[in-house]
Amino acid sequence: MENLLEVVHLTKIFTLGSLLSRIRVRAVDDVSFHIKPAEIFTLAGESGCGKTTLARMILGFEEPTSGQILYQGKEIKKRSRVWFSHAIQAIFQDPFGTFNPLRTVDQYFFETIRNYRLAASREEAVRLIAEKLHVVGISIEEFMGKYPNEFSGGQLQRISIARALLTHPQLLIADEPVSMVDASLRMSIVNLFKDLRERMGMSILYITHDLATAYYVGDRIAVMFRGNIVEMGPVEKVLMEPKHPYTQLLRESIPEADPRKRWSSRISLMETEHQEYLRVGCKFAGRCPYVMEICRKQMPELVEIEGVQVRCYKYVDSRG
Ligand SMILES: Nc1ncnc2c1ncn2[C@@H]1O[C@H](COP(=O)(O)OP(=O)(O)O)[C@@H](O)[C@H]1O
Ligand SMILES: [Mg+2]
Repeated sequence: MENLLEVVHLTKIFTLGSLLSRIRVRAVDDVSFHIKPAEIFTLAGESGCGKTTLARMILGFEEPTSGQILYQGKEIKKRSRVWFSHAIQAIFQDPFGTFNPLRTVDQYFFETIRNYRLAASREEAVRLIAEKLHVVGISIEEFMGKYPNEFSGGQLQRISIARALLTHPQLLIADEPVSMVDASLRMSIVNLFKDLRERMGMSILYITHDLATAYYVGDRIAVMFRGNIVEMGPVEKVLMEPKHPYTQLLRESIPEADPRKRWSSRISLMETEHQEYLRVGCKFAGRCPYVMEICRKQMPELVEIEGVQVRCYKYVDSRG
């Protein structure tokens, strides 16, 4: 079966700092993976590892420094905004940030329908909206004429999914869609992804730092650290028998859901983050309990063992 999406040696370098102290951060560093039709592919890793940058390149918001992105076998470079809207849609972390608090949410739907000429009349537009809302479990009666703050975060995230469905995309990118949603409602959103896959054959790139939902929803998972995929394979294998020392660490320290805590941990992370990004060799070497001399000198290649790809010299050596 042809891949829906293929990312090939994708790299994004950001240049930071002043003229005198310029640093180049490889936010996404030689990342390759594919997503099959009707597959939920999870991209996991802590804050700052390059997940959003990767998503933004796939959405055409950010130009890759090098590498390729193929959709149904063709490069997406130079595709129009209209093309993107029909092929790939995205939902983001903060559903309240998606909608202006002073506008009713239905206005966004009518606007999308107008912009992409998805309906010939108002009746047809309302029918289309009702149909997409039905998929996410919201009725048109509780939706019309309402402002964003009249919904819970979970409901609003469902509404942004419904809006993303208007153009009938094959790929939905969900960038940390549940991290601001009540823990009790997370599974219901994640279940919706399973529904979209099963009922509509959609593919989903599920970006998260929440390994519990990743385990629950995902077919395959890629674990990112400082711009690199360090481990990739079936969710069951990667999360239950992690091979990379970073995946092992991640499993032991499942991050908190509280956004304030994440903010403070992000600040403390910043100190080492750039140092790690700039590291020659394996970026995890500074924290790795198994570090060897070679790790500090040269980036390990991804090697395949037992159906899982791992970027770690521990396994290069064991292959003989
Ligand atoms: N527009 C930008 N300019 C400079 N640096 C950026 C920009 N966007 C992201 N970065 C840096 O790239 C790295 C990856 O960020 P990001 O993709 O947002 O990670 P994540 O989504 O995993 O938290 C971070 O070090 C971040 O500071
Ligand atoms: Mg992000």
